[in-house]
Amino acid sequence: GDGVFKYYSSGEWKKSSSGKSVPIINPTTRQPHFKVQACTQEEVNKLMEEAKTAQKLWAKTPLWKRAELLHKAAALLKEHKVPIAECLVKEIAKPSKDAATEAVRSGDLVSYCAEEGVRILGEGKFLVSDSFPGNERTKYCLTAKIPLGVILAIPPFNYPVNLAVSKIAPALIAGNSIVLKPPTQGAVAALHMVHCFHLAGFPKGLISCVTGRGSEIGDFLTMHPMVNCISFTGGDTGIAISQKAGMIPLQMELSGKDACIILDDADLDLAAANIVKGGFSYSGQRCTAVKVVLVMESVANALVDKVKAKVAKLTVGLPEDDSDITPVVTESSANFIEGLVVDAKQKGATFCQEYRREGNLIWPLLLDNVRSDMRIAWEEPFGPVLPVIRITSVEEGIHHCNASNFGLQGCVFTRDISKAILISDAMETGTVQINSAPARGPDHFPFQGLKDSGIGSQGITNSINMMTKIKTTVINLP
Ligand code: G3P
Repeated sequence: GDGVFKYYSSGEWKKSSSGKSVPIINPTTRQPHFKVQACTQEEVNKLMEEAKTAQKLWAKTPLWKRAELLHKAAALLKEHKVPIAECLVKEIAKPSKDAATEAVRSGDLVSYCAEEGVRILGEGKFLVSDSFPGNERTKYCLTAKIPLGVILAIPPFNYPVNLAVSKIAPALIAGNSIVLKPPTQGAVAALHMVHCFHLAGFPKGLISCVTGRGSEIGDFLTMHPMVNCISFTGGDTGIAISQKAGMIPLQMELSGKDACIILDDADLDLAAANIVKGGFSYSGQRCTAVKVVLVMESVANALVDKVKAKVAKLTVGLPEDDSDITPVVTESSANFIEGLVVDAKQKGATFCQEYRREGNLIWPLLLDNVRSDMRIAWEEPFGPVLPVIRITSVEEGIHHCNASNFGLQGCVFTRDISKAILISDAMETGTVQINSAPARGPDHFPFQGLKDSGIGSQGITNSINMMTKIKTTVINLP
């Protein structure tokens, strides 16, 4: 056809009546690679209506049947891992092996969700009245978990498939319908993932995927009266969405400035390996990336040397070649990162490598002796640049971590488990990892941020529960 990927509504692939498209720029070549439909508000209205109707029937579909369809979709996702990974390589410059891993991890997530769903939705509670003062045993209360209705899922560019299914699968197993708005970079990978759900045979209208410009359909979707819940992962936009959304449950996972605190008794080789993996995987474009290292002065030189040696081994280049460091997602992102680097340079940070950039490709950079007047001490680069702040007490490290607006994850390296637990308790973050880099997975672990890092908790079990509501029926005995 005209080379514009169609959007998905009423169980069919459609062209938008707008006649317009949105280009997807390959971060490596900085040339348009794919095009998707620029959908209109009318098209959104139509698929919302259908989502509402389809959901009513779906909620009555037996739980085991819903699970069966999800298992089919999971198997299809794994079968389609090659074309999905190819899209991720071209749209978001994800290294080829990580791209394939994302597709497989997504299939596993969907299966696990189906299994977890049949267990936790397959049981409810039974309460009796005479435990509360003044009551006889004349009331029996039955509880069940019922779906919320239409769930709007908005995943970010860095995991357009995995962070889409982490919303879609819990929503569907719980009896909800789904409207997916994929990120522009990653939209075609997401459409391919939706194709797997299509092939699995879900009822028409239950799942739709709408593409287009945020300026045209962004607020229209998030403020749509038919949306009963929003599950969003991304940056600051999430704060704006939560301010505008109506009285509906929100699941938000936003930015982070995950700190890595290194004590003087830490295993420095282990710490260095985790700092490099945590700081530079997917070129630092993960909300759970290590974004600031807070190291005790007494071991700082030794640690920085070890990290430097590992950074020197990172390969820099094309995602097609499975390079460790690949071009960041957009030119504006690269410019933002460069702004942080320039600010740190002006204010006297120590550059452990020379700063180098070609197009959107930024070479990995470790900045030592960063101080709190530098922007990089507080802001999230979402790129391969990692600041090191030297501390003279653990309290100083905890203080820096807690002074951040963000509170996603953090990590601490020490051989003293009691100290580690006390530090974990003191860190105002949703998760603290002891002796490992921050990470969301395994995908059934709870995942949540404090402060500006989010609302609610994710992870398979928590997401299923969050996308349901408790319904009670009380039997009154004579
Ligand atoms: O940036 C998205 C966030 O969910 C990170 O996931 O698996 O890289 O820890 P992960």
